[in-house]
Amino acid sequence: MTQAFRYQSKRQKRICWMTDLHLDQADSNSTSQLLKKLEGEEYDMALITGDVASSQHLSEHLTMLAKACGSRPIYITLGNHDFYGSSITGTRQLIEKVCRQVPNLHHLSNGGAVDLGNRTILVGGDGWADGQWRGRRTKDINSPDHYSIRDFRGLNKWERLRKMRALGQASAVSIINRLRPALRFNRHIYVASHIPAFRTSALFDGKPCDANHQPHFVHAQLGAILIWSAKSNPSTRFTSLAGHTHSECKDVVLHNLTSIVGGHRKHRPDIQGILAA
Ligand SMILES: [Fe+2]
Ligand SMILES: [Fe+2]
Repeated sequence: MTQAFRYQSKRQKRICWMTDLHLDQADSNSTSQLLKKLEGEEYDMALITGDVASSQHLSEHLTMLAKACGSRPIYITLGNHDFYGSSITGTRQLIEKVCRQVPNLHHLSNGGAVDLGNRTILVGGDGWADGQWRGRRTKDINSPDHYSIRDFRGLNKWERLRKMRALGQASAVSIINRLRPALRFNRHIYVASHIPAFRTSALFDGKPCDANHQPHFVHAQLGAILIWSAKSNPSTRFTSLAGHTHSECKDVVLHNLTSIVGGHRKHRPDIQGILAA
């Protein structure tokens, strides 16, 4: 069910940002420490930009995280890992069911812009690596997505790339539909999604990813929307938040557009930071 998430405060909300927690692979001590931090840190709302756990563990882990946030809302976008062991439709149905059961849990793909106060908003969507690249043919990389997400099983390289492009397009359209009405009225817009929107912030071995990885690491259609939005609204600041590559990166794309990608330490889920600006 679509709902608008609204706050009434003039002060800007502080966001406790997490990404790529991969709680189904985490050691229990690190998970307990994360939950304690979520209970003790000072923030107004939590945000997770995908890859919480594989589909069969998603409900249990999201419920646990939401409980640790207490009465504070927690907003999520799904990452590719969250679909593992299920289908895209099945996982989306699951997340809506969990959001109905857990009052402070909200799926950003299914809601309006979140008003953070001080003319700042948060919009978001699940996002997909959309199979795009420039130049010559790329080598196919061996991604677990190909067999762990039911929709990709049995597809050849070209069928997969077509499907990724269509999923990326649907996600980009859904984000722009939420972004467009808010463009003129806000001074700062956070756009949360799982996949980095720019090749320059999607790192592999410490460098912007190459042509072989770009189709699987970058949501290029979201990048195009962010560039267009930032250029046509030069006095509005845009901050893109993502994960997926597990490599921290802060990339100033334009004077008013910054792309921030969170990192991941294997088996050690943690908070990326508290955002307020
Ligand atoms: Fe991840
Ligand atoms: Fe991912």
